Amino acid sequence: MASHPQPDGAPSIGLRTPQDLWRYVDRFSANLPARPVNLVKRPPGQTDVVLITGTTGGFGCDALEHLLRDETVQLVYAFNRKDSHALERQRKQFAARGLDSSLLDTSKFRMVEAVLHEPGFGIDAEVLEEIRTSVTHIILNAWTVNFNRPITSFEEDIQGVRNSMDLALSSPFTNAPAVIFVGSITVFCNWKMAGPVPEIPIDDPASSFGMGYAESKWVSERILQNVALERGAHTVVVRVGQIEGDRMGHWNEREWFPSLVKSALFQKCLPKQDKTVAWVPSYEAARALVEMRHSLDPIIHLVHPRPVPWDTIMVPIARELNVPLVPYTAWLSALEGSIASERGSTKEVQAMRLNRALRLLPLFKDHCKKMERMPERDAIGFVFLGMDKAMRVSKSLASLPQLDGERAMLWLAAWRKSGFLSLQE
Ligand SMILES: NC(=O)c1ccc[n+]([C@@H]2O[C@H](COP(=O)([O-])OP(=O)(O)OC[C@H]3O[C@@H](n4cnc5c(N)ncnc54)[C@H](OP(=O)(O)O)[C@@H]3O)[C@@H](O)[C@H]2O)c1
Repeated sequence: MASHPQPDGAPSIGLRTPQDLWRYVDRFSANLPARPVNLVKRPPGQTDVVLITGTTGGFGCDALEHLLRDETVQLVYAFNRKDSHALERQRKQFAARGLDSSLLDTSKFRMVEAVLHEPGFGIDAEVLEEIRTSVTHIILNAWTVNFNRPITSFEEDIQGVRNSMDLALSSPFTNAPAVIFVGSITVFCNWKMAGPVPEIPIDDPASSFGMGYAESKWVSERILQNVALERGAHTVVVRVGQIEGDRMGHWNEREWFPSLVKSALFQKCLPKQDKTVAWVPSYEAARALVEMRHSLDPIIHLVHPRPVPWDTIMVPIARELNVPLVPYTAWLSALEGSIASERGSTKEVQAMRLNRALRLLPLFKDHCKKMERMPERDAIGFVFLGMDKAMRVSKSLASLPQLDGERAMLWLAAWRKSGFLSLQE
C-alpha cells in the first residue's frame, strides 16, 4: 500500500489551470446510458452480492476478507488484472497479511480476471450477465497508486470508473447497485481553508490540483456525482486517509513513514513535531469501508476519529532505536546534509538505495513548509476532516481504539523481520 504525500502545486503535464480538470469530468460523464425500460424490483430478502476491484493489493485484500466473513454477503466477485495469476497472488497476499486463506476456497468467492478500462471488462459475456443481474454493490478500489504521474496516466483508471457506472446503470432492477468509490484525502492536498472540512463535494478543482493522483480521484468523485444526479444511481465516495500496517503490523516499506523511521539508522535521530496523526490500521480501515457500503450519504471520510499526538508513536520508536528526537528542521538538515557533498556521484545513488528517506526529500521539505505556514494541520500537512457521517454508518470506525506505542512496536517488529531495519538492505 502507498502513502499520501502532497506536493505543493507544480502543474500537471498538459494542464494549465485547475479548471481544465472539468474537461476530464465532462469527457468521462458524457453520454451516460439510460436505465433499461421495464425495471423490476429486487427479490425480497436478497442478500448482498458485491463486486470489488483490486483485491490483490493491500487495502482491497483486507476488504475482501471482511466481505467473505460478512454473513449478509452472499457472493463476492473480485475483479483483478487479467493474465496476472490473480488467484495465486491473492492467496499469497492473504497469507502475508495474516488473513484466512480458506475463505478463498468457499463458493462465496469468485475471482474474475478483467480489464477494467475495456468495455465489458474483457470477461466472458455469460459471467458479465450473471453479475449484471445480481450485483447489489460495486466497490471501486483498484487504482494506480503512484504520486509522481500526471493525470494523463490515470485515464484507464478513470475509464474503469466510467465502465463500472455503465454496468451499474444497466442493472435490470429499480435499485441499481450502489457504487462505492475508494477516494483519497489527497483531494485536499491544496486545500487552503481551515478545517474540519465537512463530508461534502469539493466544487473547486484547485483543491487537488498539482498531483495527478489526487486530480484523478477528484475527477472520479465528480463523475460519480454526475451519474447520481443524472440517472438517480446511488453512489458513495469514501475519502480514505493514511492507512498504516496490516494485521501483523507490517507497513509497506516503500511508503514515506517507514522510510522516515529507517533514517534513524543513518542520521542517528528522528524528528519531533507538535502535530497529530489520524492513521488507521489497514484491516480496521477495510472493515469500515465494507460497512460504508451501506452509507446513504454520498460522501464520507475514512480517517481515525481520534487522532493522537505524533509523540505517542515517535517517542517509543526513538527509544527502541536508541536515538534522540530532534526538531523536524534539524532532522531534515541532517538528512539533506548527508548527501550534500555526494551530488551526482555513485555514492549518492548508493546512499539513496540504503536510506530511502533521501528519495523523499522533496516530500519531507513540503511537510516542513506546510507545518510552518499552516499550523492548523496534522503531521502530514492535511486539514482536519469532519467525520459525522462516517461514524454514523461505520460502528467499528466510531469505536476504533486510538493508535499507541504498542502498535508502533508491531511496525518495528515487522520491519526487523523483513530485514528492512538493517544497514545492509
Ligand atoms: N494506502 C493508503 O494509505 C491509501 C490511502 C487513501 C486511498 N487509498 C486507495 O485505496 C485503494 C487501494 O490502495 P492500496 O494502498 O491497497 O494500493 P495497492 O496495494 O497498490 O493496491 C492497488 C490494487 O489496485 C490494482 N490495480 C491497479 N491498477 C489496476 C488496473 N489497471 N487493473 C486492475 N487492477 C489494478 C492492483 O492490482 P495489481 O496487484 O495487479 O497491481 C492492486 O490490486 C486505492 O484506490 C488507493 O488510491 C489508499
